[in-house]
Amino acid sequence: MGLNSGQWDQSTSVSIALEVANYKGVTESRRNLNSISTSASNLSSPTLQAALTDTIVFKMPHSPINPAILYWGTPVVLITTTNEDDTSNISPISSAFWLGDHCMLGLSAHSQTTTNLQRTKQCVLNLPSDDMTAAINALACTTGTKDIPAGKAQRGYRFEKDKFSVAGLTEQASERVVPPRIRECPAQMEAEVVGIYEMMRDGPEAISGALLAIEVKVLRTYVEDRLRLGGYENRVDPLAWRPMIMSFQHLFGLKDGKPEESTLARIDEELYRLPK
Ligand SMILES: Cc1cc2nc3c(=O)[nH]c(=O)nc-3n(C[C@H](O)[C@H](O)[C@H](O)COP(=O)(O)O)c2cc1C
Repeated sequence: MGLNSGQWDQSTSVSIALEVANYKGVTESRRNLNSISTSASNLSSPTLQAALTDTIVFKMPHSPINPAILYWGTPVVLITTTNEDDTSNISPISSAFWLGDHCMLGLSAHSQTTTNLQRTKQCVLNLPSDDMTAAINALACTTGTKDIPAGKAQRGYRFEKDKFSVAGLTEQASERVVPPRIRECPAQMEAEVVGIYEMMRDGPEAISGALLAIEVKVLRTYVEDRLRLGGYENRVDPLAWRPMIMSFQHLFGLKDGKPEESTLARIDEELYRLPK
Protein backbone atom coordinates (compact mmCIF):
# COMPACT_ATOMS: atom_id res chain seq x y z
CA MET A 1 0.00 0.00 0.00
CA GLY A 2 1.72 3.20 -1.14
CA LEU A 3 0.82 6.29 0.94
CA ASN A 4 1.51 8.69 -1.91
CA SER A 5 -0.31 6.81 -4.58
CA GLY A 6 -3.40 9.01 -4.28
CA GLN A 7 -5.45 5.98 -5.22
CA TRP A 8 -8.08 4.51 -2.92
CA ASP A 9 -9.28 1.22 -4.22
CA GLN A 10 -11.49 -1.29 -2.51
CA SER A 11 -8.68 -3.65 -1.49
CA THR A 12 -6.77 -0.77 0.14
CA SER A 13 -9.80 0.25 2.17
CA VAL A 14 -10.43 -3.32 3.23
CA SER A 15 -6.84 -3.89 4.29
CA ILE A 16 -6.69 -0.62 6.25
CA ALA A 17 -9.97 -1.32 8.00
CA LEU A 18 -8.84 -4.83 8.85
CA GLU A 19 -5.53 -3.66 10.26
CA VAL A 20 -7.16 -0.98 12.36
CA ALA A 21 -9.92 -3.27 13.56
CA ASN A 22 -7.41 -5.97 14.38
CA TYR A 23 -5.06 -3.60 16.12
CA LYS A 24 -7.66 -1.96 18.31
CA GLY A 25 -9.04 -5.29 19.42
CA VAL A 26 -12.38 -4.57 17.78
CA THR A 27 -12.44 -8.05 16.36
CA GLU A 28 -12.49 -11.13 18.48
CA SER A 29 -12.71 -13.81 15.87
CA ARG A 30 -12.01 -14.49 12.24
CA ARG A 31 -15.78 -14.44 11.60
CA ASN A 32 -16.07 -10.86 12.88
CA LEU A 33 -13.07 -9.85 10.81
CA ASN A 34 -14.74 -11.19 7.70
CA SER A 35 -17.93 -9.24 8.33
CA ILE A 36 -15.90 -6.04 8.84
CA SER A 37 -14.07 -6.85 5.64
CA THR A 38 -17.37 -6.94 3.74
CA SER A 39 -18.65 -3.65 5.15
CA ALA A 40 -15.26 -1.97 4.72
CA SER A 41 -15.78 -1.82 0.98
CA ASN A 42 -18.49 0.81 1.62
CA LEU A 43 -16.32 3.10 3.76
CA SER A 44 -16.38 6.76 2.78
CA SER A 45 -13.23 8.71 2.20
CA PRO A 46 -13.14 10.66 5.55
CA THR A 47 -13.53 7.38 7.39
CA LEU A 48 -10.71 5.97 5.36
CA GLN A 49 -8.55 8.97 6.23
CA ALA A 50 -9.21 8.38 9.93
CA ALA A 51 -8.49 4.69 9.51
CA LEU A 52 -5.24 5.47 7.75
CA THR A 53 -4.20 7.87 10.51
CA ASP A 54 -4.96 5.17 13.06
CA THR A 55 -2.96 2.70 11.03
CA ILE A 56 0.04 4.99 10.89
CA VAL A 57 -0.13 5.89 14.58
CA PHE A 58 -0.90 2.45 15.94
CA LYS A 59 0.57 -0.01 13.53
CA MET A 60 3.42 1.14 11.41
CA PRO A 61 6.33 2.23 13.58
CA HIS A 62 8.57 -0.15 15.46
CA SER A 63 10.95 1.61 17.81
CA PRO A 64 13.58 0.31 20.20
CA ILE A 65 12.47 -0.18 23.81
CA ASN A 66 14.35 -1.31 26.88
CA PRO A 67 11.80 -2.82 29.30
CA ALA A 68 13.01 -3.75 32.78
CA ILE A 69 11.17 -7.05 32.41
CA LEU A 70 10.48 -9.21 29.35
CA TYR A 71 7.55 -11.20 30.71
CA TRP A 72 5.64 -11.71 27.48
CA GLY A 73 3.25 -14.30 28.90
CA THR A 74 3.88 -17.65 30.54
CA PRO A 75 1.80 -19.88 32.80
CA VAL A 76 1.82 -19.34 36.53
CA VAL A 77 3.23 -22.31 38.45
CA LEU A 78 2.73 -22.78 42.20
CA ILE A 79 5.79 -24.69 43.36
CA THR A 80 5.39 -26.60 46.58
CA THR A 81 8.51 -27.60 48.52
CA THR A 82 9.30 -28.84 52.00
CA ASN A 83 10.87 -26.54 54.62
CA GLU A 84 13.57 -27.64 57.05
CA ASP A 85 10.97 -28.12 59.82
CA ASP A 86 8.89 -30.38 57.49
CA THR A 87 6.21 -27.74 56.88
CA SER A 88 5.30 -26.88 53.31
CA ASN A 89 6.03 -23.79 51.27
CA ILE A 90 4.34 -22.43 48.14
CA SER A 91 5.90 -20.03 45.64
CA PRO A 92 4.18 -18.59 42.59
CA ILE A 93 6.54 -18.34 39.63
CA SER A 94 6.05 -17.82 35.92
CA SER A 95 9.52 -18.41 34.49
CA ALA A 96 8.94 -22.00 33.47
CA PHE A 97 9.01 -24.07 30.30
CA TRP A 98 8.73 -27.76 29.57
CA LEU A 99 10.63 -29.98 27.13
CA GLY A 100 9.67 -33.63 27.15
CA ASP A 101 9.19 -34.63 30.78
CA HIS A 102 11.66 -32.02 32.04
CA CYS A 103 10.91 -28.49 33.16
CA MET A 104 13.24 -25.52 33.54
CA LEU A 105 12.43 -23.14 36.38
CA GLY A 106 13.86 -19.62 36.58
CA LEU A 107 14.30 -18.82 40.27
CA SER A 108 15.88 -16.27 42.52
CA ALA A 109 18.73 -17.86 44.47
CA HIS A 110 17.41 -16.07 47.57
CA SER A 111 13.96 -17.60 47.73
CA GLN A 112 12.87 -20.20 50.26
CA THR A 113 11.82 -22.42 47.37
CA THR A 114 15.36 -22.46 45.97
CA THR A 115 16.82 -23.25 49.40
CA ASN A 116 14.35 -26.11 49.76
CA LEU A 117 15.01 -27.42 46.24
CA GLN A 118 18.77 -27.40 46.79
CA ARG A 119 18.39 -29.32 50.04
CA THR A 120 15.58 -31.80 49.28
CA LYS A 121 15.71 -32.02 45.45
CA GLN A 122 11.93 -32.42 45.38
CA CYS A 123 8.91 -30.31 44.47
CA VAL A 124 5.44 -30.34 42.96
CA LEU A 125 4.61 -28.03 40.05
CA ASN A 126 0.96 -27.11 40.55
CA LEU A 127 -0.76 -25.25 37.70
CA PRO A 128 -3.59 -22.93 38.76
CA SER A 129 -6.50 -22.27 36.43
CA ASP A 130 -7.46 -18.77 35.38
CA ASP A 131 -10.16 -18.51 38.06
CA MET A 132 -7.59 -18.75 40.87
CA THR A 133 -6.52 -15.10 40.85
CA ALA A 134 -7.39 -14.61 44.53
CA ALA A 135 -4.97 -17.34 45.63
CA ILE A 136 -2.15 -16.01 43.42
CA ASN A 137 -2.65 -12.48 44.70
CA ALA A 138 -2.66 -13.67 48.30
CA LEU A 139 0.69 -15.38 47.71
CA ALA A 140 2.24 -12.49 45.77
CA CYS A 141 4.77 -10.45 47.76
CA THR A 142 5.21 -13.13 50.41
CA THR A 143 8.27 -15.23 51.17
CA GLY A 144 8.93 -18.20 53.38
CA THR A 145 12.36 -16.74 54.17
CA LYS A 146 12.44 -15.10 57.62
CA ASP A 147 15.30 -12.74 56.75
CA ILE A 148 13.68 -10.97 53.84
CA PRO A 149 16.29 -10.20 51.14
CA ALA A 150 16.87 -6.45 50.62
CA GLY A 151 15.42 -6.42 47.10
CA LYS A 152 12.20 -8.07 48.26
CA ALA A 153 11.92 -5.79 51.32
CA GLN A 154 12.14 -2.84 48.96
CA ARG A 155 9.27 -4.26 46.88
CA GLY A 156 7.08 -4.72 49.96
CA TYR A 157 7.43 -8.48 50.53
CA ARG A 158 6.55 -9.93 53.94
CA PHE A 159 7.40 -13.20 55.67
CA GLU A 160 4.62 -15.82 55.66
CA LYS A 161 5.10 -19.13 57.39
CA ASP A 162 1.85 -20.80 56.36
CA LYS A 163 1.26 -20.05 52.70
CA PHE A 164 -1.50 -22.66 52.35
CA SER A 165 -3.64 -20.79 54.91
CA VAL A 166 -2.79 -17.38 53.49
CA ALA A 167 -3.95 -18.48 50.02
CA GLY A 168 -6.90 -20.58 51.20
CA LEU A 169 -5.44 -23.66 49.50
CA THR A 170 -5.53 -27.30 50.60
CA GLU A 171 -2.69 -29.80 50.93
CA GLN A 172 -3.10 -33.07 49.04
CA ALA A 173 -0.63 -35.90 49.72
CA SER A 174 1.83 -36.65 46.91
CA GLU A 175 2.79 -40.15 45.87
CA ARG A 176 6.36 -39.87 44.55
CA VAL A 177 7.70 -36.90 46.52
CA VAL A 178 7.39 -35.43 50.01
CA PRO A 179 6.05 -31.93 49.19
CA PRO A 180 2.25 -31.92 48.93
CA ARG A 181 0.19 -31.17 45.85
CA ILE A 182 -2.33 -28.32 45.87
CA ARG A 183 -5.79 -29.81 45.64
CA GLU A 184 -7.38 -26.75 44.00
CA CYS A 185 -4.91 -26.81 41.07
CA PRO A 186 -6.35 -28.81 38.12
CA ALA A 187 -2.89 -29.96 36.99
CA GLN A 188 -0.08 -31.16 39.27
CA MET A 189 3.36 -32.57 38.52
CA GLU A 190 5.54 -34.29 41.11
CA ALA A 191 9.17 -33.66 40.20
CA GLU A 192 12.80 -34.04 41.26
CA VAL A 193 15.77 -31.75 40.66
CA VAL A 194 18.25 -33.01 38.05
CA GLY A 195 20.34 -29.89 37.47
CA ILE A 196 21.02 -26.43 38.89
CA TYR A 197 22.65 -23.85 36.61
CA GLU A 198 23.77 -20.33 37.34
CA MET A 199 22.19 -17.81 34.98
CA MET A 200 23.69 -14.54 33.70
CA ARG A 201 27.28 -15.55 34.22
CA ASP A 202 28.03 -12.85 31.67
CA GLY A 203 26.33 -10.25 33.87
CA PRO A 204 27.67 -7.68 36.33
CA GLU A 205 29.30 -8.78 39.60
CA ALA A 206 26.38 -7.35 41.61
CA ILE A 207 23.98 -10.04 40.39
CA SER A 208 26.46 -12.88 40.22
CA GLY A 209 24.82 -16.09 41.46
CA ALA A 210 21.48 -14.37 42.09
CA LEU A 211 19.47 -16.16 39.41
CA LEU A 212 19.30 -19.88 38.82
CA ALA A 213 17.82 -22.14 36.19
CA ILE A 214 16.70 -25.27 38.00
CA GLU A 215 15.96 -28.31 35.84
CA VAL A 216 13.46 -30.78 37.23
CA LYS A 217 12.25 -34.11 35.94
CA VAL A 218 8.52 -34.77 36.13
CA LEU A 219 7.90 -38.10 37.86
CA ARG A 220 4.12 -38.18 37.80
CA THR A 221 1.43 -35.89 36.35
CA TYR A 222 -2.15 -35.59 37.57
CA VAL A 223 -5.09 -33.75 36.02
CA GLU A 224 -8.69 -33.34 37.04
CA ASP A 225 -10.69 -35.84 35.03
CA ARG A 226 -12.61 -33.08 33.25
CA LEU A 227 -9.33 -32.07 31.55
CA ARG A 228 -8.81 -35.46 29.88
CA LEU A 229 -9.33 -35.54 26.12
CA GLY A 230 -12.06 -38.05 25.35
CA GLY A 231 -10.96 -41.20 23.52
CA TYR A 232 -7.30 -40.93 24.54
CA GLU A 233 -5.44 -42.46 27.46
CA ASN A 234 -2.84 -39.75 27.87
CA ARG A 235 -3.97 -36.47 26.36
CA VAL A 236 -5.10 -33.22 27.93
CA ASP A 237 -7.99 -31.38 26.29
CA PRO A 238 -6.61 -27.92 25.48
CA LEU A 239 -10.16 -26.58 25.19
CA ALA A 240 -10.91 -27.61 28.77
CA TRP A 241 -7.60 -26.44 30.23
CA ARG A 242 -7.66 -22.77 31.25
CA PRO A 243 -4.18 -21.87 32.54
CA MET A 244 -3.42 -18.70 34.46
CA ILE A 245 -1.05 -16.62 32.37
CA MET A 246 1.22 -13.90 33.75
CA SER A 247 2.15 -11.16 31.28
CA PHE A 248 4.10 -8.12 32.45
CA GLN A 249 2.96 -8.81 36.03
CA HIS A 250 -0.74 -8.96 35.07
CA LEU A 251 -2.83 -12.11 35.28
CA PHE A 252 -4.79 -13.35 32.27
CA GLY A 253 -6.88 -16.28 31.14
CA LEU A 254 -7.06 -17.58 27.60
CA LYS A 255 -9.93 -16.40 25.44
CA ASP A 256 -12.95 -18.65 25.37
CA GLY A 257 -13.93 -20.74 22.42
CA LYS A 258 -12.12 -22.77 19.82
CA PRO A 259 -8.61 -21.55 19.06
CA GLU A 260 -7.54 -20.66 15.56
CA GLU A 261 -6.39 -23.53 13.38
CA SER A 262 -2.88 -24.64 14.38
CA THR A 263 -0.66 -26.44 11.87
CA LEU A 264 1.43 -27.80 14.75
CA ALA A 265 -1.62 -29.46 16.27
CA ARG A 266 -1.81 -31.81 13.26
CA ILE A 267 1.22 -33.69 14.61
CA ASP A 268 0.39 -36.71 16.77
CA GLU A 269 1.34 -35.85 20.38
CA GLU A 270 2.81 -39.33 20.87
CA LEU A 271 5.55 -38.48 18.34
CA TYR A 272 7.01 -36.18 21.00
CA ARG A 273 7.32 -38.89 23.67
CA LEU A 274 11.02 -39.35 24.49
CA PRO A 275 12.51 -42.82 25.03
CA LYS A 276 12.72 -43.94 28.67
C1 LIG B 1 2.62 -14.31 39.32
C2 LIG B 1 4.00 -14.37 39.92
C3 LIG B 1 5.06 -14.81 39.15
C4 LIG B 1 6.35 -14.88 39.69
N1 LIG B 1 7.37 -15.37 38.92
C5 LIG B 1 8.59 -15.60 39.49
C6 LIG B 1 9.61 -16.27 38.78
O1 LIG B 1 9.43 -16.69 37.63
N2 LIG B 1 10.79 -16.48 39.41
C7 LIG B 1 11.02 -16.06 40.69
O2 LIG B 1 12.13 -16.28 41.23
N3 LIG B 1 10.07 -15.41 41.39
C8 LIG B 1 8.86 -15.18 40.82
N4 LIG B 1 7.87 -14.56 41.54
C9 LIG B 1 8.20 -14.05 42.88
C10 LIG B 1 8.22 -15.17 43.92
O3 LIG B 1 6.90 -15.60 44.16
C11 LIG B 1 8.90 -14.63 45.17
O4 LIG B 1 10.29 -14.66 44.97
C12 LIG B 1 8.53 -15.36 46.45
O5 LIG B 1 9.05 -14.64 47.54
C13 LIG B 1 9.07 -16.77 46.54
O6 LIG B 1 8.60 -17.37 47.72
P1 LIG B 1 9.60 -18.14 48.67
O7 LIG B 1 10.72 -17.17 49.06
O8 LIG B 1 8.77 -18.52 49.86
O9 LIG B 1 10.12 -19.29 47.91
C14 LIG B 1 6.58 -14.46 41.03
C15 LIG B 1 5.50 -14.00 41.80
C16 LIG B 1 4.22 -13.96 41.24
C17 LIG B 1 3.08 -13.48 42.10
